[in-house]
Amino acid sequence: MVSARELPQCVIFLVNADQMLGLVTLANKEMDVVKKNCVTEKINLVLSGIFLLGGLLLVPGVSGATRTNALSLPPPQITDGVSVMKALSERKSSRNFAVSPISDEQLSKILWAANGINRPDSEGHTTPSAMGVQSVHVYVVTDKGIFLYEPQSHSIRLQNKGDYRMTTTKGQSFVGKAPLTLVYVADSAAWGNAHRVLPADQQTIFDSVAAGAMAQNVGLVAAAEGLGTCIRASIDHEAFAKAAHLLDSERIIIAQTIGVLP
Ligand SMILES: Cc1cc2nc3c(=O)[nH]c(=O)nc-3n(C[C@H](O)[C@H](O)[C@H](O)COP(=O)(O)O)c2cc1C
Repeated sequence: MVSARELPQCVIFLVNADQMLGLVTLANKEMDVVKKNCVTEKINLVLSGIFLLGGLLLVPGVSGATRTNALSLPPPQITDGVSVMKALSERKSSRNFAVSPISDEQLSKILWAANGINRPDSEGHTTPSAMGVQSVHVYVVTDKGIFLYEPQSHSIRLQNKGDYRMTTTKGQSFVGKAPLTLVYVADSAAWGNAHRVLPADQQTIFDSVAAGAMAQNVGLVAAAEGLGTCIRASIDHEAFAKAAHLLDSERIIIAQTIGVLP
């Protein structure tokens, strides 16, 4: 595991598409190169590809689970695509997936649709949230690890390295084959003082509606991309909470598996 503690602050730009979600597996030898060159504060590593896809932001001086690596996603492609009506006509639940990856461009679109910033001036999001509280966070689960989506930087931040996909289900085996599961998690801390004025259970209802809006956006984008999705309530809450290092204030609302149709 890459330790941010050992590295000076720097932004590493990579040019290899395969490294996008595999940065944390950089070999020690490669990290030695990184360390050596960080004196210049910015390093370009030409590994094997030709596309500039993302960055790894290493933030020293932050303690605990937040001392992790953020991977930038490519900007979402929003100019073409099928109509909303066509996507709606394709939407359905799928539970049979090929063991094939989704592209970084598709991941970018999916996460932007889930909760990206679509109005930078006001920091408005693609999904509504009650009182604009933004209490629901999107966890990204792949064979590489569990990441947290950060809308402001359109990046994902590693929470735990490893394949924890099956912690997001109580036994539906297709989840372990599909390349991506999103877990929508509400953080009651985000409500601050607002929750005190809400009737009992209202906060949970609002969180659930916000997560539902996110999942529906993702379902439509996936349908437009020809990908399959399945919203799932059957989750091993305890196992996922442990694997994702969820806080006591965080509560799992729903999961959604996304993958390539066979
Ligand atoms: C709140 C909710 C929870 C769901 N949980 C699961 C689940 O745990 N596993 C699963 O395979 N499908 C789950 N589904 C998908 C439903 O089974 C599916 O939407 C329903 O059968 C209708 O099929 P369709 O989506 O293809 O129209 C869930 C759907 C919703 C809205």
